Amino acid sequence: MSVTKAGARPAEPASGPRLGVPEIAGRKGGVPVVMLTAYTAPTARLLDPHVDVLLVGDSLGMVVYGLESTLAVTVDMMIAHGAAVVRGSRRALVVVDLPFGSYQESPAQAFRTAARVLAETGAAAVKLEGGREMAETIRFLTERGVPVMGHIGLTPQAVHRLGGFRARGRTEAEQETILADAVAVAEAGAFSIVVEAVIEPLARRITETVPVVTIGIGASAACDGQVLVTEDASGLFDAFKPRFVKRYAELGRGLEAVAQAYAEEVRARRFPADENLFGVARGGKG
Ligand code: KIV
Repeated sequence: MSVTKAGARPAEPASGPRLGVPEIAGRKGGVPVVMLTAYTAPTARLLDPHVDVLLVGDSLGMVVYGLESTLAVTVDMMIAHGAAVVRGSRRALVVVDLPFGSYQESPAQAFRTAARVLAETGAAAVKLEGGREMAETIRFLTERGVPVMGHIGLTPQAVHRLGGFRARGRTEAEQETILADAVAVAEAGAFSIVVEAVIEPLARRITETVPVVTIGIGASAACDGQVLVTEDASGLFDAFKPRFVKRYAELGRGLEAVAQAYAEEVRARRFPADENLFGVARGGKG
């Protein structure tokens, strides 16, 4: 068995009833698609029974690696985390982000990257950012067997061109541009589109216009599904909290409490206690 560049073993395809691309694509206008991000096997294992899609987002650059933006994330990072999430899950469709610089140059570059990501992670689909300018690439990939999830509106890899992580679609001109992006991405063959940080009327218009599943993040309940970054929703990432994030738990505070209690017990020699010690073998010779 070969070993990936990042040192992870390639994942085997799931033997159980894993959701496929056609099942997610078939949810247009139906029961909302539930997507959360995951970057590690233990997190994937916990989320898997509850979600339809696990997204190995390039947000891991900021959330896991402490980077300022997603721009420095590499294909090797995505493959290592993507393979871990596939290994940790059984039911959810796993989608892996193509990172900045790994697909924008040409459709051929995008295909090489996507083929490597799918082969070395075992994931079923890739996600890439961009609208009309990426339509040719999306068509090239989908015609060659690579399922693509699009991503329009606020596209974090374009943070410098957009001038920051701001909501999009506040002017009429911007709304027409983003709607045209959605139509182009859908016509090019994407099975689903993430719509990020756009005002509610635009999200509704996009969802009513395109025949593919829209998955909103900061884009209202008008979309066909929702996604959040798990660390945002669980309070594990608190560098900043976008307005659209809902905190369902404060796991960060729980982790801090663990560190504090452990430190106190170690310093007071209360840990390890008797129940944490290995026993002496009874009647043994050594
Ligand atoms: O990278 C990511 O986590 C994403 C989601 C925010 C949609 O693209």
